[in-house]
This record gives sequence, C-alpha cells and structure tokens, in this order.
Amino acid sequence: MAETKKLMRALAGETQAVPPVWMMRQAGRYLPEYRATRAQAGDFLSLCYNPELAAEVTLQPIRRYGFDAAILFADILLVPQALGADLWFVTGEGPRLSTITSPSDFNALKPVEEIHETLSPIYETLRILTGALPAETALIGFAGAPWTVATYMIAGRGTPDQGPAHRLMAEDPATFDALMARITAATVEYLSAQIVAGAEVVKLFDSWAGSLKGDAFTRYALEPAREIIAALKARHPETPVIAFPREAGENYIGFARATGADCVALDNSVSAEWAAEHVQVDGCVQGNLAPNHMVTGGQALIDETRRIVKAFSNGPHIFNLGHGITPDANPDNVQVMIDAIRG
Ligand code: CP3
Repeated sequence: MAETKKLMRALAGETQAVPPVWMMRQAGRYLPEYRATRAQAGDFLSLCYNPELAAEVTLQPIRRYGFDAAILFADILLVPQALGADLWFVTGEGPRLSTITSPSDFNALKPVEEIHETLSPIYETLRILTGALPAETALIGFAGAPWTVATYMIAGRGTPDQGPAHRLMAEDPATFDALMARITAATVEYLSAQIVAGAEVVKLFDSWAGSLKGDAFTRYALEPAREIIAALKARHPETPVIAFPREAGENYIGFARATGADCVALDNSVSAEWAAEHVQVDGCVQGNLAPNHMVTGGQALIDETRRIVKAFSNGPHIFNLGHGITPDANPDNVQVMIDAIRG
C-alpha cells in the first residue's frame, strides 16, 4: 500500500507543499489537560510507567491540534533507570540520578538483557497507541543518544557544560568508553522493542551533542548514532530514524550521510536558509522554529513560521520547533503556528 501518512512521506524523501508538523514536548505542562492527568498519576515517573495515562497524554495534543505525528510519552532517563541507576525528579529543578564516576559504579550496572523488566510498560503504551491514533497520525518512539544519556549518568543531573562527563572521558577513558558501549547496546534493544510494539519512526535525542568538538564529536556523537542506526536497520529496514545532534552547528553537514539517518532534526541556532543549503541537500530535515515564539506569539510567530516553511520548500521537511515547547507557552500560539503552516 502506498504510504499516506504525511510524516512517513517526508521521511521517504517526498517534498510536500504543506509539510507535516509536530512539536517536541507536545504533551507537556503548557497544556491544562496534561497537568490534570499528571496530577492524577501522582508524579512524572509514575505517569511514564502508567501505560493508560501515558497513552492518554500522548493523545491529548493530537486531539487538540491534529498534529501529523504523536511521540511516545516517556523520558530519555528511563534507560539509565533500567540499567540500575536510581532516578528521581526534583520539582522545579529537574532530574537526579545516582552517579557513575568509577569502575565499581559501572560494574554495579545491570546487563542490557535486563532492561525490558523496567521498560515493558513503555512498550505497552505504544501498543495502546497503535489502536488509538487517527489513521493519518504517525507514531514516533525515541531514546536518548549515548553521549547525552552518559552526561546525566555521570553527573547525576543536568549540567550546563557537561563538565563531569568530559572529565571522566579524559581521566578514565576505559570506564567512559565502557559506559558508552553499555548505553549504545541498551539503546538498540530499547528502540528495537519500541518498533516491535508499534513505533513507526524512532528518534535519537542527542541534546548535548553541541559540547562535543572535533574528534570527540565524531567518536561520541556520530559513531554511536551510526552504530545504533546500522543495528536497527539490520532488524527493521523499513523503519525511518530521525537523529537530533542538537547544537551540532557545522557538524550537521553530512551527519545523515555518515550515520544513515533518514532525517536530521535541527535546533534553532542554525538558520533554515543555511540548513536548506548544507543539510537538506542530503534528504529530509526537521525543525526549527525557536520555542520562545510559543510564548511570545504575534506577527513574529507567523512570519518566522512562514520563513522556515519557505526556506525548506524545495526538499523534504518536517516542521517542528528547534527544541521542546516550554511550560510557559500559550496553547493558542500552537494553533497560530499550525494555521500559518497549513494556510
Ligand atoms: O517530546 C515529547 O513530548 C516526548 C516525551 C519526552 C519527554 N522528555 C517528556 C518530559 C521526550 C522525548 C523527552 C526527552 C528528554 N528528557 C531529553 C532530551 C530532549 C531535550 O529536551 O533536550 C532530556 C534531556 C530529558 C531529561 C529530562 N526530563 C529533563 C531535563 C526534564 C526537565 C525537568 C523539568 O522539570 O523541566 C525532564 C522532564 C520531562 N520529560 C517533562 C516531560 C513532559 C516535564 C515533566 C513534568 O511533567 O514535570
């Protein structure tokens, strides 16, 4: 059967007059219905591990806006938890994890085969969604890329410059490399299980790729992405992969070709005009409206949205923000963006 979902067509390389659209963090705190369901679940992690409620929050932005894709509701830090790290969220501050700073910390982690014991509710969320989504809506699964996940596992929290991870890389490369290899292998198994459960596309979030420069970018952002994509393509040749090496700058050039990704997601630090010339030449791109427009709205939101659609209009494009929508965004502005795209 010919593919009819707009998102899948873009990923197959089709140029469309009206691009498909979805948003990172589209199920999130800017939506009153999300806040209500989260309150019902108790806390964020309880929501992630409750398949019925996680499916419900995944569907909320689809009902409200008719996005072309739904993204599984979960978090990139569930993989460290499945590998045995302690994980909790401090309200107003963000995630906290037990740290990996020595060979003995690393040796206490669980083997990859055991991750599904923790992650099986996530696969159940996907199975529920495959039966609940509108026929035209694609279902996206995801995981964090090894470097980004490692930065949280090493520091035990988000860090402005990923200093602790860079330090372990320099001071104990054997432990650092072993951790990267463990996360890489776990990510292959996790994404593969998501595809089996119904994910039609998977996305790899490398939120902190921008702090890797030169050879370190090749070794710890590009190479793990290539390895994960090759392993997934061997098992699931039909499933497209979106890679998001956030703030990669010039390293966005050639990233799709080098890793085998079907689409490269762009943050808003690069201009759409530059990316059309240097990145979209290799295939589909996703992005890249600055999330702040969802807070400020107005004519600037409309103008920027149209500018990005136009800049990418000569090739395959998936409209998205350059990063996740923030809790202070106005839900009305999301509709303004969609109207500017769909005319
Ligand atoms: O995009 C989506 O809607 C899918 C679900 C999703 C979430 N997190 C839900 C979430 C995805 C894809 C993520 C990815 C994620 N999580 C990343 C990579 C992408 C990025 O944003 O750069 C990272 C670094 C994390 C780790 C994480 N989880 C952080 C730093 C936080 C923020 C803490 C805070 O309070 O703002 C989270 C929490 C989180 N993940 C929320 C959501 C909707 C907010 C939780 C809440 O309801 O309080």
